[in-house]
Amino acid sequence: MPIECSVYWARPGDARPEHRRMFTGAELARATAYRRAIDTARFVVGCALSRLALGELLSLPPGDVPLLRDCADCGQPHGRPRLADDSAHVSVSHSGEHVVVAVTRAAPLGVDIEQHKPQSVDLAEAVLTETEQAGFSALPKTERVAGFFRYWTRKEAVLKATGDGLRVPMTAIEVSAPHSPAALLRFDGRPTLRLRLADLSVDAEHSAAIAVETTDPPTMTHVDGRVLLAAVS
Ligand SMILES: CC(C)(COP(=O)(O)OP(=O)(O)OC[C@H]1O[C@@H](n2cnc3c(N)ncnc32)[C@H](O)[C@@H]1OP(=O)(O)O)[C@@H](O)C(=O)NCCC(=O)NCCS
Repeated sequence: MPIECSVYWARPGDARPEHRRMFTGAELARATAYRRAIDTARFVVGCALSRLALGELLSLPPGDVPLLRDCADCGQPHGRPRLADDSAHVSVSHSGEHVVVAVTRAAPLGVDIEQHKPQSVDLAEAVLTETEQAGFSALPKTERVAGFFRYWTRKEAVLKATGDGLRVPMTAIEVSAPHSPAALLRFDGRPTLRLRLADLSVDAEHSAAIAVETTDPPTMTHVDGRVLLAAVS
């Protein structure tokens, strides 16, 4: 049976002081620790939207969602957000003018959004496998920046679904070429991993992808998170 995922969209400018009322002490500390206002806003919106989305999914008030953020390696309050009872799964990403949160009851998932930055294509040799580099080089010059971020977001979505993050080199993963349907082709050392990838539509300046640990194509429901955030009192 296909897994149902909900993808919530918002913007850093949607952050409001009222959102912090649903935060834990650790989340409040994170919110106040950033130097740049934009990073605070991205965290606040991602955190509040995670609580609102999970609250809808689990029929809980957002402040009661048992969301943990302590790192499995060092115990610090960063890393992959997770639920204490594994009753649902969540992934958060923010870049440029977008914040995206994906939730499902069924399986671990990872979402990634990236604003296109032309200088990032200089990283192509470091982050793309030989096959991916060949696919990248075959793109017309005008499509290289968007193509690079198609590769990047597909790969990072996989690494967020598994919880590895960038501790695993991006070259350990091979994904399909930008004009082919999104797919994980190889993950070194994880031959049994079964995972579905999909691109998410954003705009001309951003790319995004979602990865879900499942064998069947998941269904995606897109939700305007700005409405939920604006309704918090
Ligand atoms: C996760 C990571 C790939 C995100 O990179 P990014 O493109 O800069 O940021 P994004 O906006 O896409 O994602 C950030 C979100 O990913 C989530 N996240 C963090 N670590 C994660 C992990 N290992 N797996 C899945 N999600 C993770 C968090 O929700 C974070 O947002 P928040 O802190 O505001 O809640 C990168 O930060 C990373 O690899 N971090 C792990 C590094 C690490 O584990 N170091 C060891 C510490 S002891």
